Amino acid sequence: MKKVGIVGWRGMVGSVLMDRMRAEDDFQGYEPRFFSTSQAGQAGPEIKGTTYQLLDALDAAQLAELDVIVSCQGGDYSGRVYPQLMELGWQGYWIDAASKFRMDADSIIVLDPVNRKVIDQGLAAGVKKYIGGNCTVSLMLMALGGLFEQGWVEWVTSQTYQAASGAGAKNMRELVEQMRIIGENAGNLLDTPSSAILELDRNITSTLRSELFPAANFGAPLAASLIPWIDSPMENGQTREEWKGCSETNKILGTGASLIPVDGCCVRVGAMRCHSQAYTIKLKQDVPLAEVEQALAQQNDWAYLVANTKEETLRELTPARVTGTLDIPVGRVRKMNLGPEYISAFSVGDQLLWGAAEPLRRMLKIVLEHLD
Ligand code: HSE
Repeated sequence: MKKVGIVGWRGMVGSVLMDRMRAEDDFQGYEPRFFSTSQAGQAGPEIKGTTYQLLDALDAAQLAELDVIVSCQGGDYSGRVYPQLMELGWQGYWIDAASKFRMDADSIIVLDPVNRKVIDQGLAAGVKKYIGGNCTVSLMLMALGGLFEQGWVEWVTSQTYQAASGAGAKNMRELVEQMRIIGENAGNLLDTPSSAILELDRNITSTLRSELFPAANFGAPLAASLIPWIDSPMENGQTREEWKGCSETNKILGTGASLIPVDGCCVRVGAMRCHSQAYTIKLKQDVPLAEVEQALAQQNDWAYLVANTKEETLRELTPARVTGTLDIPVGRVRKMNLGPEYISAFSVGDQLLWGAAEPLRRMLKIVLEHLD
């Protein structure tokens, strides 16, 4: 029986992965083993009545017994352990949520509803590293995959509205703490409907600008504000998050020399775990809107078209509606004033599901099928 090791199953992405694996009854047909960097020997997760004892995630010899390792432990861990496995001559498959190996020539970024062909070619060619994509990129491709599949896309800009979860669990907590303090400080004015709105506004502004306002993780207020900077600077003026848009999209699609330009401004907003994106898409030709809509709706089972009406948009196309689901609504689809080849669209997707855990869960199944 194949042995599958899971590392980092207790963290935020790992927990979502475990939930999805339980929901889909994935723990069958192989022997799961659970690893921890700090709690080896202690009781791990309980699955179908069996409680698994935790093994040492830093013991390369133990890891080398596995056929597949799924890591949600982070890039530092991957960078430390994977070379040790290589030294031991490990021939197994490495499936990773971290970005550490994403752009390596011998890795594939996994998003099988969009790039199953690239994945299958990789498996056939003996590629062993399968890495989850950047959440924003994966969510864009789940939404716009149909247009890329048709070969219609000349370039895309994506202006993002990224949730706190993309920055980590501590940041989600900080966002809610910020909301609480804003609400608490404004309490009396809110409770007095006759109070002047500008007084309420001054109250909020003074809370946001107070030195005591909790913003250690984000570095600035996010609640009642936004932060147009995600990740580290690149030399060309982009942030790393913006840079990933083009590099990862093209790697996922396997476009090779015929690179499709992707660029935009990545912005953190006060959503909890759904990333939203507003796109301008330049098509290579004037494709009728109905065909664009059809391509968007048909590419995969999770993307669906939301009618460009206020009622449907408010019902379907918001983080509040999508959070915790695998749905990828795509709406506000229309031709732009810029010309008949220009399409505007907007999508929402859960950053922890299609943006992180789901492609890994599915890749594990694909690898196990391949090994059968
Ligand atoms: N870098 C993303 C963000 C999440 O900060 O929202 C991880 O893909």
